[in-house]
Formats: sequence, structure tokens, C-alpha cells
Amino acid sequence: MLISREMNDAINGQIGREFGASLQYVNIATYFDSQDLPKLAGLFYKQAEEEREHAMKFVKYLVDTGAEVHIPPVDAPKSSFVSAEEALELSVKWEMDVTRYINGLMDLALDQRDYATQEFLGWFVTEQVEEVSSMERLLNVIRRAGDHNLLMIEAYISHL
Ligand code: FEO
Repeated sequence: MLISREMNDAINGQIGREFGASLQYVNIATYFDSQDLPKLAGLFYKQAEEEREHAMKFVKYLVDTGAEVHIPPVDAPKSSFVSAEEALELSVKWEMDVTRYINGLMDLALDQRDYATQEFLGWFVTEQVEEVSSMERLLNVIRRAGDHNLLMIEAYISHL
């Protein structure tokens, strides 16, 4: 095995969080679908797919390094929202939390002089900057538009 047992366990935990993010974004997408906001829904269905891809990148890394894949239980995602703003606030919080965990994995890789994992995690460090920034931007425009003007947000997303 090319990585430590501790790193193996930590990455298994992250696989659970990436799948958790995917499930949470499916629920946010269905909330927007229920509000007849297909562009917002589509954006979150796509985000859910991306989170699944993140989880699978970690799975493949464990397989490639001869480590063990143990996917942990994933908490049920929140399934009801009172507003678009609440859904986006949760998304920003998710991305901030995931960023902290990715940084924690990088701290461990640095402590252990695990160069392969440092290199692998570099992609996620960059990705998190993009994900936090795009969720914060969407939260800001939703706040500016207000819950009664979400059709403007649909038009905005069409031009992204
Ligand atoms: Fe996989 Fe949005 O973090």
C-alpha cells in the first residue's frame, strides 16, 4: 500500500462527504424543480453529478494506491427548504466544510511527506476555490434579486 493507514481512513471519510454533498445537491435540485425553476434545478443536478465524480476520484485513488475502500454511512440530506436563499446558504456552508476537510487531508499528506497524495489533492484544492466562489456568487445574486424575482435568476443562469 502506497499510503498510510491513517491517510486511507481519512480518505474513506472524505468519500462519504463527497457522496453526502451529491445527495444534498440532488435534494436542492428537486426543491428548485418543485418551485418551477428548471435552470436552478439543472445547475444543482449537474453539481450533484460533479460531487459523485469527486467521490469516485477518491475511490480510484485508493484502488490505485493499493488501499482499502470502506464507504462510511452517509447522513440523510436536508430535504425541505423555505427559500432559495436558505438552499444556497446550505450549499456555501457545505463547500466551506469540504474545503476545510480537503485542507485537513493536505495537512496530513504534508506531515507524512506523502508526495503522491499531495499531488493528487492539488486538483481538489483548486476545485474548492472554484466551488466556494461560484456558490457564494449565486447566493449573492439570489439575495439581491429576492425570493419574488427568482425568474431573473433563471435568466441569469442561462447566460452563465
Ligand atoms: Fe466535492 Fe463541492 O466539493
